[in-house]
Amino acid sequence: MATNEGDRRSRAWFGRLDKNGFIHRSWMKNQGFPDHLFDGRPVIGIANTYSELTPCNAHFKELVEWVKRGVYEAGGFPLEFPVFSNGESNLRPTSMLYRNLAAMTVEEAIRGNPIDGVVLCTGCDKTTPALLMGAASCDLPSIVLSGGPMLSGNYKGKPIGSGTDVFKFAEAVKAGEMSLQDFMEAESCMSRSAGHCMTMGTASTMNALAEALGTSLPGSAAIPAADARRRQIAHLTGMRAVAIVREDLRLSKILTREAFQNAIRACGALGGSTNAVIHLLAIAGRVGVPLSLEDWDAWGRGVPTLVDLMPSGRFLAEDFYYAGGLPAVLRRLGEHELLVKDALTINGKTIWENVKDAPCWNEEVIRPWDRPLVVEGGLVVLRGNLAPNGAVLKPSAASPHLLRHRGRAVVFEDIDHYHARIADPALEVDETSVLVLKNCGPKGYPGMAEVGNMGLPPKLLRRGVKDMVRISDARMSGTAYGTVVLHVAPEAAAGGPLALVRDGDQVELDVPARRLELKVDEEELARRRAAWSPPPPAMASGYWKLYHDHVLQADRGCDFDFLSGCRGAAPPRDSH
Ligand code: FES
Repeated sequence: MATNEGDRRSRAWFGRLDKNGFIHRSWMKNQGFPDHLFDGRPVIGIANTYSELTPCNAHFKELVEWVKRGVYEAGGFPLEFPVFSNGESNLRPTSMLYRNLAAMTVEEAIRGNPIDGVVLCTGCDKTTPALLMGAASCDLPSIVLSGGPMLSGNYKGKPIGSGTDVFKFAEAVKAGEMSLQDFMEAESCMSRSAGHCMTMGTASTMNALAEALGTSLPGSAAIPAADARRRQIAHLTGMRAVAIVREDLRLSKILTREAFQNAIRACGALGGSTNAVIHLLAIAGRVGVPLSLEDWDAWGRGVPTLVDLMPSGRFLAEDFYYAGGLPAVLRRLGEHELLVKDALTINGKTIWENVKDAPCWNEEVIRPWDRPLVVEGGLVVLRGNLAPNGAVLKPSAASPHLLRHRGRAVVFEDIDHYHARIADPALEVDETSVLVLKNCGPKGYPGMAEVGNMGLPPKLLRRGVKDMVRISDARMSGTAYGTVVLHVAPEAAAGGPLALVRDGDQVELDVPARRLELKVDEEELARRRAAWSPPPPAMASGYWKLYHDHVLQADRGCDFDFLSGCRGAAPPRDSH
């Protein structure tokens, strides 16, 4: 058997003329792979998140065939493998509970198999960070391929957006403004093609940020899943995967602190999801890049939101792609010196080389610098005695009149307490109240569910109230909106001060000053703390217990304490 290309990692399996080499090749040949594919060409693993239970990624069943065409064309050997697929819409109690599990399956599948480089098939919210985290801990040459967003929703002649309009419709039904029949009819009108949510939710945000980090081909993130160019970019991604193995272009060369700076600024310009804070912190932790909440606040300052997409704005991902997509946004950042221009990207060029001539075809969708959607689009990091380790707020999704607000707390001890109480006509609440939800953080829910944008009391909705200050240790869907303080750290279940808030306490939010304060004196808080005890884990054994015992708090990205860092991908010992 000829060896055509030197000392690749996969040669530890396929390049040996002994018993183990026989075993590794022979069993593979049962799939019809001929002898010459084992000659030392780059073996490209395709980490597939396809699952019928992850509808946003279900089209990867076919899309990977175009990746394989590209790999073969470039002289590589593609081998597809499944990884844990965590879909946002079905997985309970929340797909975030399984992000780290998915990352573990990616990392171990890469390390344990004869793979030289990897294509990461991303899409639905948590699949993108999970695959990047797992791959970063191995640090092989790796390239991201997004599945792309769905086509725009359309209901009764009007565009409707994933998630965003579900929340609006659900509140309209509660307020008596929409019939149940119309509500049901809207289901098919919202999700009408393959792909992930087509608002600037977590999926569109994270796939755009994967591109801003430099890990996917320029211009690829926003191509709709149903567009033939999605298949073209899959083919080109497969070709590039082979090249990055030959160039030894590893993730650690791409995922630098400068790349994260670019991604954080891109998030502000996109009006991206608050979930990106947690995910980028976790990805940075895997490559050993120091990154903190302070970086989010500092780098986000002065970045206007330029992209007018729901939930902050009017348009949808399809419009974003036709307007020029992420390259047009990065060009605007670069022209205002808010881009680290020499950051290396996966095509071997700098980010500025990729985007400096990027056109913008629609200045309503991608606004000019002097006509932004939101003047200060960066995510805000709040601190104070209610959030000693930080909390985040998305100003572009908030109501300007509530950004400085003091109100009386209405407290829900957990999500069940919230559901039992929110519709009670006797609940003492008005539009100046501050809704406080506890025990929905990483340990408390468990998994830090997207319930932070808790629905308003129906009696206030019926009076036309559209927004109130809400505070929790939970996350919120990237498609949601409102004056919502999220990710309070430490969380209530870990003994954070949020656990001590009671009905009637005064709470003060001051976004310009970055403050979140509980106006209760220290002695009283000490009395309450002495009476507090932590809630037990939701399960006493199994994966949930592992999660409870090892998950880091939101300000550290909610990775497991034992998963941070890069462990490389030296071939493990023989199995035979
Ligand atoms: Fe998958 Fe929104 S449910 S991206």
